[in-house]
Amino acid sequence: MGRGDGIVVLTGAGVSAESGLGTFRDRGGLWTRHDLAEVATPAGFAADPARVHAFYNARRANAAAAAPNAAHLALARLQAAGALIVTQNVDDLHERAGARKVVHMHGRLTGALCASCGARWDAPAVMAVGDACPVCGGGPCRPDIVWFGEVPRHMDRIDAALSVCALFVAIGTSGTVYPAAGFVQEAAAAGARTLEINLERSGGRFDRVIEGPATRVVPDWVAEILGR
Ligand code: OAD
Repeated sequence: MGRGDGIVVLTGAGVSAESGLGTFRDRGGLWTRHDLAEVATPAGFAADPARVHAFYNARRANAAAAAPNAAHLALARLQAAGALIVTQNVDDLHERAGARKVVHMHGRLTGALCASCGARWDAPAVMAVGDACPVCGGGPCRPDIVWFGEVPRHMDRIDAALSVCALFVAIGTSGTVYPAAGFVQEAAAAGARTLEINLERSGGRFDRVIEGPATRVVPDWVAEILGR
């Protein structure tokens, strides 16, 4: 048994903020500058696929240029000690910090998805209207991102982990998007303790809150758990 066993960590955009990737709802956040309905819904993609590809191509380039920060590195140590990382983030900074088996409930910028046959493959740096699916030859091909109105991925696995965890920790997420926003109640109802780590408390019902920037407070908290 590692010291991370029984811990489920949910991360959000706040974990990657200090790597230079924007959050969604903070001042200057992505959803203050872009219309969510245009770039993050199936209807938006149907109406203007070129606009949607341009949005995700830019985000993919930003993520590729960013480096994991001290919070990602600390969470990779916790994962190696047995914790499960569930992320709403579509960047791959947890993996590039060394974390394994990260559950990407909102999909991945590094993935592509065929809207016709459901095939998934590694996305090229730039996706474009007219790309052909490598499996069925058709399309349209889209980023492997869960859009509003779509069902998040790996929910059975996440629900199973929440039902048996001893500690649930939400890090850098505003708790506004369901189902992730409901994980704290789900874990608490199953008997887990709950902790929020955020720049400022979200207002969710957690047993304990640690406030501060992720790069400072997450490594301290992980050291507390791992005993060093
Ligand atoms: P939000 O932008 O809603 O919230 C970011 C959270 O991070 C806020 O609570 C901030 O206080 C916190 N934060 C900002 N900087 C931080 C720092 N340096 N250290 C610690 N915390 C910090 O982002 P999410 O909650 O991740 O979904 O958003 C959830 C989902 O909404 C996203 O996955 C995305 C979006 O629409 C889809 O696109 C499907």
